[in-house]
Amino acid sequence: MANIFEKHIASVKDFPNEGIVFRDITPILQDGKLFQEATHELANYAKKRRADVIVGPEARGFIVGCPVATELGIGFIPARKPHKLPREVERASYDLEYGSNSLEMHKDAIKPGQRVVICDDLLATAGTLRACKQLIENLGGELVGAAFYVELPDLKGREKLPDLDVFSLVQYQ
Ligand code: PRP
Ligand code: ADE
Repeated sequence: MANIFEKHIASVKDFPNEGIVFRDITPILQDGKLFQEATHELANYAKKRRADVIVGPEARGFIVGCPVATELGIGFIPARKPHKLPREVERASYDLEYGSNSLEMHKDAIKPGQRVVICDDLLATAGTLRACKQLIENLGGELVGAAFYVELPDLKGREKLPDLDVFSLVQYQ
């Protein structure tokens, strides 16, 4: 049976390109109780992984990750698209299901040895996740888990990082 989160994800064919089924999580965000419940699930996961900080990739990772960090009373670190952060940055490039991009983090964003959990709306090819992992490790952090609203197992993202603990609320085959 579809779970409550799955019922509130809209599937949009051929967006942003032909052949892509876009999994739109905004109906979850529009429902205050459900957004809170989704946040709570990810926060419980991050707490179990003993996260010191949350990293969220621009843009949907900000929406998902910030409330998780505030629920736990820990820091939030944005991984931003190029040329947005004002101070010295570390950069990593990656491919997406529908394109390619780079992400940057401030060089002083993570303290050596800090335990990091990544939060984002969706895991597809894991390009974004791998870029964040590279940035976190280059800054001396330890990636101890990743949590998503949605996972697309057909794209084998999880298999690209076999040693990483991954949590998701909904999986689409
Ligand atoms: C989407 C999504 C994830 C990523 C997942 O972000 O929010 O971050 O793609 O795909 P992957 O596992 O293949 O890397 P997108 O780069 O489209 O940016 P947005 O959040 O600004 O829409
Ligand atoms: N990011 C990468 N693939 C996606 C998809 N199918 N739906 C929503 N966001 C995505």
